[in-house]
Amino acid sequence: MRLTVIGTGYLGAVHAACMADIGHEVLGVDVDAEKIKALAEGRPPFFEPGLHDVLTRNVQSGRLRFTDSLREAAEFGELHFVCVGTPQQRDSHAADLRYVDAVIDGLAPWLRDGSLVVGKSTVPVGTTARLVARMRELVPDRGDFEIAWNPEFLREGFAVQDTLHPDRLVAGVLSARADAMLREVYAPMLRAGVPYISTDPATAELVKVAANSFLATKISFINAMAEVCDAAGADVVTLADAIGHDTRIGRRFLSAGLGFGGGCLPKDIRAFTARARELGVDRAVAFLREIDEINTRQRRRTVDAARDLVGGSFTGRRIAVLGATFKPDSDDVRDSPSLAVAAAIHQEGGDVWVHDPEGIENAHAVLPALHYTTDPMTACQGASAVLHLTEWRQYRELDPAVLAGVVRTRTILDARNTLDTERWRSAGWKVRALGRPAPAPAVVPSPPARVTIPQAAGPGWAAPATDSLSLVPK
Ligand code: UDX
Repeated sequence: MRLTVIGTGYLGAVHAACMADIGHEVLGVDVDAEKIKALAEGRPPFFEPGLHDVLTRNVQSGRLRFTDSLREAAEFGELHFVCVGTPQQRDSHAADLRYVDAVIDGLAPWLRDGSLVVGKSTVPVGTTARLVARMRELVPDRGDFEIAWNPEFLREGFAVQDTLHPDRLVAGVLSARADAMLREVYAPMLRAGVPYISTDPATAELVKVAANSFLATKISFINAMAEVCDAAGADVVTLADAIGHDTRIGRRFLSAGLGFGGGCLPKDIRAFTARARELGVDRAVAFLREIDEINTRQRRRTVDAARDLVGGSFTGRRIAVLGATFKPDSDDVRDSPSLAVAAAIHQEGGDVWVHDPEGIENAHAVLPALHYTTDPMTACQGASAVLHLTEWRQYRELDPAVLAGVVRTRTILDARNTLDTERWRSAGWKVRALGRPAPAPAVVPSPPARVTIPQAAGPGWAAPATDSLSLVPK
Protein backbone atom coordinates (compact mmCIF):
# COMPACT_ATOMS: atom_id res chain seq x y z
CA MET A 1 0.00 0.00 0.00
CA ARG A 2 1.02 3.63 -0.43
CA LEU A 3 0.72 5.28 2.95
CA THR A 4 2.02 8.30 4.81
CA VAL A 5 3.16 8.76 8.38
CA ILE A 6 2.74 12.33 9.60
CA GLY A 7 4.96 13.36 12.50
CA THR A 8 8.33 11.60 12.70
CA GLY A 9 9.10 11.68 16.43
CA TYR A 10 9.62 8.46 18.41
CA LEU A 11 6.31 7.05 17.32
CA GLY A 12 6.22 8.23 13.71
CA ALA A 13 9.83 7.56 12.74
CA VAL A 14 9.62 4.00 14.01
CA HIS A 15 6.17 3.43 12.53
CA ALA A 16 7.24 4.77 9.11
CA ALA A 17 10.37 2.62 9.00
CA CYS A 18 8.51 -0.50 10.16
CA MET A 19 5.61 -0.01 7.72
CA ALA A 20 8.15 0.19 4.89
CA ASP A 21 9.86 -2.88 6.31
CA ILE A 22 6.69 -4.96 6.02
CA GLY A 23 6.40 -3.99 2.36
CA HIS A 24 4.48 -0.72 2.10
CA GLU A 25 5.56 2.35 0.18
CA VAL A 26 5.84 5.02 2.82
CA LEU A 27 6.16 8.79 2.81
CA GLY A 28 7.13 10.27 6.19
CA VAL A 29 6.13 13.89 6.88
CA ASP A 30 7.44 16.38 9.39
CA VAL A 31 7.67 20.15 9.76
CA ASP A 32 11.21 19.85 11.14
CA ALA A 33 13.53 20.11 8.10
CA GLU A 34 16.57 18.86 10.02
CA LYS A 35 14.76 15.78 11.22
CA ILE A 36 13.57 15.04 7.69
CA LYS A 37 17.08 15.41 6.34
CA ALA A 38 18.54 13.06 8.96
CA LEU A 39 15.86 10.44 8.40
CA ALA A 40 16.21 10.64 4.63
CA GLU A 41 19.92 9.93 5.08
CA GLY A 42 19.08 6.93 7.25
CA ARG A 43 20.14 8.63 10.51
CA PRO A 44 17.63 8.33 13.39
CA PRO A 45 17.34 11.72 15.14
CA PHE A 46 17.21 9.94 18.52
CA PHE A 47 18.64 6.81 20.12
CA GLU A 48 16.48 3.75 19.63
CA PRO A 49 17.99 0.26 19.45
CA GLY A 50 17.47 -1.37 16.04
CA LEU A 51 16.02 1.72 14.35
CA HIS A 52 19.15 2.58 12.41
CA ASP A 53 19.13 -0.77 10.59
CA VAL A 54 15.46 -0.78 9.69
CA LEU A 55 15.59 2.86 8.62
CA THR A 56 18.69 2.50 6.43
CA ARG A 57 17.42 -0.69 4.85
CA ASN A 58 14.16 0.90 3.75
CA VAL A 59 15.56 4.29 2.73
CA GLN A 60 18.07 2.47 0.54
CA SER A 61 15.38 0.25 -1.01
CA GLY A 62 13.45 3.40 -1.96
CA ARG A 63 10.31 2.26 -0.11
CA LEU A 64 10.72 4.99 2.50
CA ARG A 65 10.95 8.68 1.65
CA PHE A 66 10.38 11.89 3.58
CA THR A 67 8.89 15.31 2.90
CA ASP A 68 7.75 18.40 4.77
CA SER A 69 4.69 18.90 2.57
CA LEU A 70 1.24 17.84 3.73
CA ARG A 71 -0.06 18.46 0.23
CA GLU A 72 2.46 16.03 -1.19
CA ALA A 73 1.39 13.55 1.51
CA ALA A 74 -2.30 13.93 0.70
CA GLU A 75 -1.60 13.32 -2.96
CA PHE A 76 0.77 10.39 -2.30
CA GLY A 77 -1.68 7.82 -1.01
CA GLU A 78 -5.02 7.05 0.53
CA LEU A 79 -4.02 6.14 4.05
CA HIS A 80 -2.45 8.63 6.41
CA PHE A 81 -1.18 7.81 9.91
CA VAL A 82 -1.14 10.78 12.29
CA CYS A 83 1.73 10.38 14.78
CA VAL A 84 2.29 13.94 16.02
CA GLY A 85 2.83 14.78 19.69
CA THR A 86 0.03 15.50 22.15
CA PRO A 87 2.01 17.07 25.03
CA GLN A 88 0.58 18.36 28.27
CA GLN A 89 -0.73 21.92 27.99
CA ARG A 90 1.44 24.52 29.68
CA ASP A 91 -1.31 25.85 31.93
CA SER A 92 -3.40 22.74 32.63
CA HIS A 93 -3.26 18.96 32.83
CA ALA A 94 -5.14 18.51 29.56
CA ALA A 95 -3.52 17.33 26.32
CA ASP A 96 -2.49 19.94 23.78
CA LEU A 97 -4.10 18.87 20.50
CA ARG A 98 -2.89 21.72 18.34
CA TYR A 99 -0.52 19.51 16.31
CA VAL A 100 -3.23 16.93 15.58
CA ASP A 101 -5.61 19.69 14.51
CA ALA A 102 -2.95 21.28 12.31
CA VAL A 103 -2.45 17.99 10.45
CA ILE A 104 -6.18 17.65 9.77
CA ASP A 105 -6.35 21.27 8.63
CA GLY A 106 -3.33 20.86 6.38
CA LEU A 107 -4.45 17.59 4.82
CA ALA A 108 -8.16 18.22 4.34
CA PRO A 109 -8.06 20.43 1.24
CA TRP A 110 -5.79 18.03 -0.66
CA LEU A 111 -7.05 14.58 0.34
CA ARG A 112 -7.85 12.13 -2.44
CA ASP A 113 -11.34 10.67 -2.62
CA GLY A 114 -11.79 7.71 -0.31
CA SER A 115 -8.83 8.59 1.91
CA LEU A 116 -8.57 7.26 5.44
CA VAL A 117 -6.84 9.32 8.13
CA VAL A 118 -5.73 7.08 10.99
CA GLY A 119 -4.76 8.67 14.29
CA LYS A 120 -2.07 6.91 16.32
CA SER A 121 -1.21 9.67 18.79
CA THR A 122 -2.57 9.37 22.34
CA VAL A 123 -5.63 11.62 22.54
CA PRO A 124 -8.54 12.33 24.88
CA VAL A 125 -11.59 10.17 24.27
CA GLY A 126 -13.91 11.90 21.80
CA THR A 127 -11.12 13.27 19.61
CA THR A 128 -12.03 11.25 16.50
CA ALA A 129 -15.63 12.49 16.68
CA ARG A 130 -14.38 16.07 17.06
CA LEU A 131 -12.00 15.72 14.11
CA VAL A 132 -14.71 14.24 11.90
CA ALA A 133 -16.82 17.35 12.60
CA ARG A 134 -13.81 19.61 12.00
CA MET A 135 -13.12 17.94 8.67
CA ARG A 136 -16.77 18.37 7.60
CA GLU A 137 -16.53 22.03 8.43
CA LEU A 138 -13.25 22.49 6.56
CA VAL A 139 -14.41 20.80 3.35
CA PRO A 140 -18.24 20.80 3.56
CA ASP A 141 -18.75 19.88 -0.07
CA ARG A 142 -16.92 16.57 0.27
CA GLY A 143 -17.87 13.68 2.51
CA ASP A 144 -15.81 10.90 1.12
CA PHE A 145 -12.99 10.60 3.60
CA GLU A 146 -12.90 9.01 6.99
CA ILE A 147 -11.05 9.13 10.27
CA ALA A 148 -10.16 6.12 12.42
CA TRP A 149 -8.10 5.67 15.59
CA ASN A 150 -5.43 3.02 15.92
CA PRO A 151 -3.49 3.65 19.15
CA GLU A 152 0.15 2.74 19.46
CA PHE A 153 1.56 0.92 22.48
CA LEU A 154 5.28 0.91 21.70
CA ARG A 155 7.81 1.31 24.47
CA GLU A 156 10.94 3.38 23.98
CA GLY A 157 13.94 1.06 23.88
CA PHE A 158 11.80 -1.68 22.30
CA ALA A 159 10.02 0.47 19.74
CA VAL A 160 11.00 -1.49 16.62
CA GLN A 161 10.19 -4.84 18.18
CA ASP A 162 6.89 -3.54 19.61
CA THR A 163 5.87 -2.14 16.21
CA LEU A 164 6.74 -5.25 14.22
CA HIS A 165 5.49 -7.70 16.86
CA PRO A 166 2.79 -5.90 18.86
CA ASP A 167 0.87 -7.58 21.69
CA ARG A 168 -2.34 -6.50 19.97
CA LEU A 169 -3.70 -4.14 17.34
CA VAL A 170 -6.66 -1.95 18.17
CA ALA A 171 -8.70 -0.33 15.40
CA GLY A 172 -11.37 2.23 16.22
CA VAL A 173 -13.30 2.49 12.96
CA LEU A 174 -16.52 3.99 11.65
CA SER A 175 -16.97 1.69 8.64
CA ALA A 176 -16.22 -1.79 7.33
CA ARG A 177 -14.10 -0.19 4.61
CA ALA A 178 -11.82 1.51 7.14
CA ASP A 179 -11.52 -1.78 9.00
CA ALA A 180 -10.59 -3.59 5.78
CA MET A 181 -7.93 -0.97 4.94
CA LEU A 182 -6.32 -1.35 8.37
CA ARG A 183 -6.40 -5.13 8.14
CA GLU A 184 -4.59 -4.82 4.83
CA VAL A 185 -1.92 -2.53 6.31
CA TYR A 186 -1.28 -4.96 9.14
CA ALA A 187 -1.75 -8.16 7.12
CA PRO A 188 1.69 -9.64 7.99
CA MET A 189 1.02 -9.17 11.72
CA LEU A 190 -2.47 -10.64 11.44
CA ARG A 191 -1.05 -13.66 9.61
CA ALA A 192 1.42 -14.08 12.49
CA GLY A 193 -1.51 -14.31 14.89
CA VAL A 194 -1.38 -10.84 16.52
CA PRO A 195 -4.82 -10.22 18.11
CA TYR A 196 -6.78 -7.56 16.22
CA ILE A 197 -9.55 -5.77 18.07
CA SER A 198 -11.96 -3.87 15.89
CA THR A 199 -14.12 -1.38 17.78
CA ASP A 200 -15.52 2.14 17.73
CA PRO A 201 -13.09 5.12 17.87
CA ALA A 202 -14.04 6.17 21.41
CA THR A 203 -13.21 2.74 22.79
CA ALA A 204 -9.94 2.64 20.86
CA GLU A 205 -8.95 6.05 22.22
CA LEU A 206 -9.75 4.90 25.74
CA VAL A 207 -7.84 1.62 25.41
CA LYS A 208 -4.61 3.56 25.18
CA VAL A 209 -5.13 5.82 28.18
CA ALA A 210 -6.58 2.96 30.21
CA ALA A 211 -3.52 0.81 29.46
CA ASN A 212 -1.09 3.56 30.47
CA SER A 213 -3.14 4.35 33.58
CA PHE A 214 -3.00 0.70 34.61
CA LEU A 215 0.77 0.56 34.11
CA ALA A 216 1.24 3.77 36.10
CA THR A 217 -0.99 2.36 38.83
CA LYS A 218 1.08 -0.83 39.05
CA ILE A 219 4.29 1.17 39.44
CA SER A 220 2.85 3.56 42.03
CA PHE A 221 1.28 0.66 43.91
CA ILE A 222 4.64 -1.02 44.39
CA ASN A 223 6.25 2.32 45.25
CA ALA A 224 3.61 2.87 47.91
CA MET A 225 4.55 -0.57 49.25
CA ALA A 226 8.21 0.52 49.19
CA GLU A 227 7.32 3.44 51.42
CA VAL A 228 5.58 1.06 53.85
CA CYS A 229 8.54 -1.32 53.68
CA ASP A 230 10.93 1.50 54.56
CA ALA A 231 8.84 2.35 57.61
CA ALA A 232 8.45 -1.29 58.67
CA GLY A 233 11.95 -2.57 57.89
CA ALA A 234 10.61 -4.92 55.20
CA ASP A 235 11.95 -5.63 51.71
CA VAL A 236 9.91 -4.43 48.73
CA VAL A 237 11.87 -6.47 46.18
CA THR A 238 11.05 -9.74 47.93
CA LEU A 239 7.49 -8.53 48.37
CA ALA A 240 7.18 -7.80 44.63
CA ASP A 241 8.68 -11.19 43.76
CA ALA A 242 6.26 -12.91 46.09
CA ILE A 243 3.07 -11.19 44.93
CA GLY A 244 4.28 -11.27 41.32
CA HIS A 245 4.19 -15.07 41.33
CA ASP A 246 0.42 -14.78 41.45
CA THR A 247 -0.39 -14.80 37.74
CA ARG A 248 -3.36 -12.54 38.39
CA ILE A 249 -0.87 -9.89 39.56
CA GLY A 250 2.28 -10.65 37.53
CA ARG A 251 5.82 -9.41 38.25
CA ARG A 252 6.17 -7.00 35.31
CA PHE A 253 5.90 -3.28 36.09
CA LEU A 254 6.27 -4.05 39.78
CA SER A 255 9.83 -2.74 40.08
CA ALA A 256 9.89 -0.30 42.97
CA GLY A 257 12.20 2.69 42.81
CA LEU A 258 12.33 6.23 41.60
CA GLY A 259 9.10 5.85 39.65
CA PHE A 260 7.89 6.57 36.18
CA GLY A 261 8.68 9.44 33.83
CA GLY A 262 8.97 9.93 30.09
CA GLY A 263 6.82 11.50 27.44
CA CYS A 264 3.80 9.24 28.02
CA LEU A 265 2.81 7.89 31.43
CA PRO A 266 2.88 11.15 33.46
CA LYS A 267 1.13 13.32 30.89
CA ASP A 268 -1.34 10.61 29.88
CA ILE A 269 -2.72 10.06 33.38
CA ARG A 270 -3.05 13.82 33.84
CA ALA A 271 -4.79 14.28 30.50
CA PHE A 272 -7.11 11.39 31.33
CA THR A 273 -8.09 13.04 34.60
CA ALA A 274 -8.71 16.34 32.83
CA ARG A 275 -10.88 14.63 30.20
CA ALA A 276 -12.82 12.68 32.85
CA ARG A 277 -13.61 15.98 34.54
CA GLU A 278 -15.00 17.35 31.27
CA LEU A 279 -17.14 14.23 30.96
CA GLY A 280 -18.42 14.65 34.53
CA VAL A 281 -16.81 11.41 35.76
CA ASP A 282 -13.79 12.79 37.59
CA ARG A 283 -14.57 10.64 40.66
CA ALA A 284 -14.08 7.51 38.53
CA VAL A 285 -10.42 8.29 37.95
CA ALA A 286 -9.69 10.39 41.04
CA PHE A 287 -7.24 7.66 42.13
CA LEU A 288 -4.94 8.72 39.29
CA ARG A 289 -4.11 11.89 41.21
CA GLU A 290 -2.84 9.72 44.03
CA ILE A 291 -0.87 7.63 41.52
CA ASP A 292 0.78 10.82 40.25
CA GLU A 293 1.52 12.01 43.78
CA ILE A 294 3.02 8.71 44.91
CA ASN A 295 5.22 8.95 41.84
CA THR A 296 6.40 12.49 42.55
CA ARG A 297 6.91 11.59 46.23
CA GLN A 298 9.43 8.91 45.21
CA ARG A 299 11.57 11.68 43.77
CA ARG A 300 11.33 13.61 47.03
CA ARG A 301 12.08 10.47 49.04
CA THR A 302 15.16 9.85 46.91
CA VAL A 303 16.44 13.39 47.51
CA ASP A 304 15.78 12.99 51.27
CA ALA A 305 17.56 9.63 51.38
CA ALA A 306 20.56 11.07 49.50
CA ARG A 307 20.71 14.06 51.87
CA ASP A 308 20.70 11.70 54.86
CA LEU A 309 23.54 9.73 53.34
CA VAL A 310 25.76 12.82 53.10
CA GLY A 311 25.05 13.96 56.64
CA GLY A 312 22.05 16.26 56.23
CA SER A 313 23.19 18.82 53.66
CA PHE A 314 24.37 18.80 50.06
CA THR A 315 26.18 22.11 50.35
CA GLY A 316 29.78 21.74 49.25
CA ARG A 317 29.32 18.03 48.54
CA ARG A 318 30.09 16.44 45.23
CA ILE A 319 27.30 14.05 44.21
CA ALA A 320 27.59 11.50 41.41
CA VAL A 321 24.40 10.80 39.48
CA LEU A 322 24.35 7.64 37.39
CA GLY A 323 21.65 7.95 34.76
CA ALA A 324 19.84 10.96 33.30
CA THR A 325 17.25 9.39 31.00
CA PHE A 326 13.79 8.40 32.19
CA LYS A 327 14.64 4.76 31.54
CA PRO A 328 17.55 2.76 30.12
CA ASP A 329 18.09 2.15 26.37
CA SER A 330 16.75 5.59 25.54
CA ASP A 331 18.18 9.10 25.22
CA ASP A 332 14.87 10.62 26.29
CA VAL A 333 14.97 12.91 29.32
CA ARG A 334 11.36 14.13 29.19
CA ASP A 335 10.02 14.25 32.76
CA SER A 336 13.00 12.16 33.79
CA PRO A 337 12.87 11.23 37.49
CA SER A 338 16.68 11.08 37.57
CA LEU A 339 17.11 14.60 36.24
CA ALA A 340 14.44 15.91 38.58
CA VAL A 341 16.40 14.49 41.54
CA ALA A 342 19.70 15.82 40.15
CA ALA A 343 18.15 19.28 39.71
CA ALA A 344 16.74 19.30 43.25
CA ILE A 345 20.14 18.38 44.73
CA HIS A 346 21.81 21.08 42.65
CA GLN A 347 19.24 23.58 43.94
CA GLU A 348 20.17 22.58 47.49
CA GLY A 349 23.81 23.42 46.84
CA GLY A 350 25.15 20.03 45.74
CA ASP A 351 27.92 19.83 43.14
CA VAL A 352 26.17 17.39 40.82
CA TRP A 353 28.07 15.30 38.24
CA VAL A 354 25.85 13.36 35.89
CA HIS A 355 26.74 10.37 33.73
CA ASP A 356 24.47 8.71 31.19
CA PRO A 357 25.38 6.40 28.30
CA GLU A 358 23.07 8.12 25.79
CA GLY A 359 21.23 11.04 27.37
CA ILE A 360 23.96 13.58 28.18
CA GLU A 361 23.25 15.87 25.25
CA ASN A 362 19.50 16.04 25.88
CA ALA A 363 20.01 16.42 29.62
CA HIS A 364 22.47 19.28 29.11
CA ALA A 365 19.94 21.06 26.89
CA VAL A 366 17.33 20.91 29.70
CA LEU A 367 19.59 21.49 32.69
CA PRO A 368 22.82 23.18 31.59
CA ALA A 369 23.80 24.09 35.16
CA LEU A 370 24.83 20.53 36.07
CA HIS A 371 28.16 18.88 35.22
CA TYR A 372 28.01 16.12 32.62
CA THR A 373 30.49 13.45 31.69
CA THR A 374 30.62 10.45 29.40
CA ASP A 375 32.74 8.53 31.89
CA PRO A 376 31.12 7.09 35.04
CA MET A 377 34.49 7.15 36.84
CA THR A 378 34.79 10.90 36.25
CA ALA A 379 31.25 11.38 37.59
CA CYS A 380 32.20 9.51 40.75
CA GLN A 381 35.55 11.22 41.26
CA GLY A 382 35.62 12.70 44.79
CA ALA A 383 31.91 12.03 45.30
CA SER A 384 30.42 12.02 48.78
CA ALA A 385 27.62 9.81 47.46
CA VAL A 386 26.86 7.93 44.26
CA LEU A 387 23.21 7.89 43.23
CA HIS A 388 22.05 5.11 40.91
CA LEU A 389 18.99 6.69 39.30
CA THR A 390 18.48 5.03 35.88
CA GLU A 391 19.03 1.30 35.62
CA TRP A 392 21.38 1.08 32.63
CA ARG A 393 23.02 -2.34 32.30
CA GLN A 394 26.45 -0.65 32.44
CA TYR A 395 25.86 0.34 36.04
CA ARG A 396 25.18 -3.23 37.12
CA GLU A 397 28.55 -4.12 35.61
CA LEU A 398 30.51 -1.42 37.47
CA ASP A 399 33.13 -2.85 39.78
CA PRO A 400 32.50 -1.47 43.28
CA ALA A 401 36.11 -2.16 44.27
CA VAL A 402 37.43 -0.02 41.41
CA LEU A 403 34.91 2.75 42.04
CA ALA A 404 35.91 2.73 45.71
CA GLY A 405 39.30 4.05 44.60
CA VAL A 406 37.91 7.29 43.14
CA VAL A 407 35.07 8.36 45.45
CA ARG A 408 35.49 10.43 48.58
CA THR A 409 33.06 8.30 50.56
CA ARG A 410 31.91 4.79 49.71
CA THR A 411 28.20 5.53 49.85
CA ILE A 412 25.69 4.55 47.21
CA LEU A 413 21.94 4.97 46.88
CA ASP A 414 20.29 2.41 44.61
CA ALA A 415 17.06 4.15 43.65
CA ARG A 416 16.20 1.46 41.05
CA ASN A 417 16.81 -1.66 43.14
CA THR A 418 18.81 -3.35 40.42
CA LEU A 419 22.34 -3.35 41.87
CA ASP A 420 23.79 -6.38 43.62
CA THR A 421 23.80 -4.70 47.02
CA GLU A 422 25.69 -7.56 48.69
CA ARG A 423 28.54 -7.15 46.20
CA TRP A 424 28.74 -3.43 46.93
CA ARG A 425 28.57 -3.97 50.69
CA SER A 426 31.33 -6.55 50.63
CA ALA A 427 33.50 -4.01 48.77
CA GLY A 428 33.08 -1.74 51.79
CA TRP A 429 30.23 0.42 50.52
CA LYS A 430 27.42 1.80 52.62
CA VAL A 431 24.36 0.97 50.53
CA ARG A 432 20.88 2.44 50.79
CA ALA A 433 18.13 1.11 48.54
CA LEU A 434 14.56 2.42 48.33
CA GLY A 435 12.14 0.10 50.14
CA ARG A 436 14.83 -2.30 51.30
CA PRO A 437 16.13 -2.79 54.82
CA ALA A 438 19.65 -1.70 55.62
CA PRO A 439 21.71 -4.22 57.61
CA ALA A 440 24.13 -1.87 59.36
CA PRO A 441 23.00 0.75 61.91
CA ALA A 442 24.77 3.44 59.88
CA VAL A 443 22.24 3.01 57.10
CA VAL A 444 19.07 2.59 59.14
CA PRO A 445 16.23 4.31 57.27
CA SER A 446 15.74 7.93 58.18
CA PRO A 447 13.14 8.61 60.87
CA PRO A 448 9.68 9.41 59.45
CA ALA A 449 9.98 13.11 60.28
CA ARG A 450 12.82 13.53 57.80
CA VAL A 451 10.79 12.19 54.90
CA THR A 452 8.84 15.14 53.57
CA ILE A 453 5.59 13.89 52.14
CA PRO A 454 3.53 16.49 50.31
CA GLN A 455 -0.15 16.71 51.16
CA ALA A 456 -2.32 14.30 49.20
CA ALA A 457 -4.83 15.44 46.58
CA GLY A 458 -5.82 18.93 47.51
CA PRO A 459 -6.75 21.95 45.50
CA GLY A 460 -3.10 22.22 44.51
CA TRP A 461 -3.33 19.16 42.37
CA ALA A 462 -5.90 20.71 40.10
CA ALA A 463 -3.36 23.32 39.12
CA PRO A 464 -0.52 22.35 36.80
CA ALA A 465 2.39 20.68 38.54
CA THR A 466 4.83 23.37 39.57
CA ASP A 467 6.90 21.17 41.88
CA SER A 468 10.48 21.22 40.66
CA LEU A 469 10.40 17.43 41.01
CA SER A 470 7.83 17.16 38.27
CA LEU A 471 9.63 18.15 35.10
CA VAL A 472 6.65 18.78 32.84
CA PRO A 473 7.83 18.49 29.24
CA LYS A 474 8.12 21.75 27.38
C1 UDX B 1 4.93 3.64 27.98
C2 UDX B 1 4.07 2.40 27.77
O1 UDX B 1 4.71 1.26 28.33
C3 UDX B 1 3.82 2.17 26.29
O2 UDX B 1 2.96 1.06 26.09
C4 UDX B 1 3.20 3.43 25.71
O3 UDX B 1 3.02 3.28 24.33
C5 UDX B 1 4.07 4.65 25.99
O4 UDX B 1 4.31 4.76 27.39
P1 UDX B 1 7.54 4.18 27.76
O5 UDX B 1 7.20 5.60 28.07
O6 UDX B 1 8.49 3.88 26.66
O7 UDX B 1 6.20 3.37 27.39
O8 UDX B 1 8.13 3.57 29.08
P2 UDX B 1 7.86 2.31 30.02
O9 UDX B 1 8.74 1.20 29.64
O10 UDX B 1 6.40 2.01 30.12
O11 UDX B 1 8.37 2.89 31.39
C6 UDX B 1 7.79 4.08 31.93
C7 UDX B 1 8.47 4.49 33.18
O12 UDX B 1 8.12 3.61 34.23
C8 UDX B 1 10.00 4.53 33.15
O13 UDX B 1 10.41 5.73 33.77
C9 UDX B 1 10.40 3.32 33.95
O14 UDX B 1 11.65 3.49 34.58
C10 UDX B 1 9.27 3.24 34.96
N1 UDX B 1 9.04 1.89 35.51
C11 UDX B 1 8.65 0.88 34.68
C12 UDX B 1 9.18 1.67 36.86
O15 UDX B 1 9.51 2.58 37.63
N2 UDX B 1 8.92 0.43 37.36
C13 UDX B 1 8.55 -0.61 36.57
O16 UDX B 1 8.33 -1.69 37.10
C14 UDX B 1 8.41 -0.36 35.19
